[in-house]
Amino acid sequence: MTISRPRAACLIGWPAAHSRSPLIHHYWLRTLGIEGGYNIEAIPPEGFAEFILHLSAHGFIGANVTRPHKERALALSEPDARARAVGAANTLWYDGAKLCSTNTDVEGFINNLDASAPGWDGASDALVLGAGGASRAVLFGLLERGITRVHLANRTVERAQALADQFGAAVHPVAWDAIGDLLPRARVLVNTTSLGMHGQPQLAIDLGRLPADAVVADLVYVPLKTHLLAAAEARGLRCADGLGMLLHQAVRGFELWFGRRPEVTPELRALVEADLTKV
Ligand code: ATR
Repeated sequence: MTISRPRAACLIGWPAAHSRSPLIHHYWLRTLGIEGGYNIEAIPPEGFAEFILHLSAHGFIGANVTRPHKERALALSEPDARARAVGAANTLWYDGAKLCSTNTDVEGFINNLDASAPGWDGASDALVLGAGGASRAVLFGLLERGITRVHLANRTVERAQALADQFGAAVHPVAWDAIGDLLPRARVLVNTTSLGMHGQPQLAIDLGRLPADAVVADLVYVPLKTHLLAAAEARGLRCADGLGMLLHQAVRGFELWFGRRPEVTPELRALVEADLTKV
């Protein structure tokens, strides 16, 4: 008699203990009635290549990858255009024997905007704050959806310039102190910096200068409601929060591994919110 284990994916990180991904994927497995698993695998950098090059031998049909492995995951797999543009892979799956990868932060960001602020893509100008890895996913998504001008402000302007060089003429690098003057034409404002995150300084900008139909997105989700989002709400602006993006970015991995496209439901959101806010 052979005992077959249920199909399982995993999250590979170092450290990996604080991820909410198991909560999300277990919720979907349970509510969709799928027999499957989602494990946490704490793998140090020196063991990463062996682990993912033999992912199926380790018992997994696919994986999420988090810090510090995302760039190496890209190099060790067959990435799609999104993962290549972002320079990092966070989701791996098998196509036959081939280990493929993508970066689901792009669709996490975009699908969360679609869900939270339908019609947002009628905008011509967006203002993106920050020029790290998260910013690349945001730029790729905004340009893919037809935003014609993305003003990219970063404390270190050279990093914004490097992204403009990569993403082309639609991306305009600007100095951090130019933010105030750009707000009146920004119909989409996105914070990709760590400012506003628990333990970090606040993002101090005056949203009074944004147009009344602007949409404000913050990638930070601890706290759930950043000062930026609270100020946007107080002005009656539409908002897309970081938790929404986190939930939406998980959809594609689940679909690739388990064959069903799961939904981001209010119940799932409440479950993860409760976990994030518990002391
Ligand atoms: P991620 O991959 O999550 O985007 P990252 O690559 O470390 O993380 O990028 C962090 C972003 O937050 C950067 O844009 C960083 O600005 P610099 O490129 O100038 O470092 C931004 N950031 C962090 N702390 C900041 C601060 N105190 N003021 C302004 N920007 C800050």
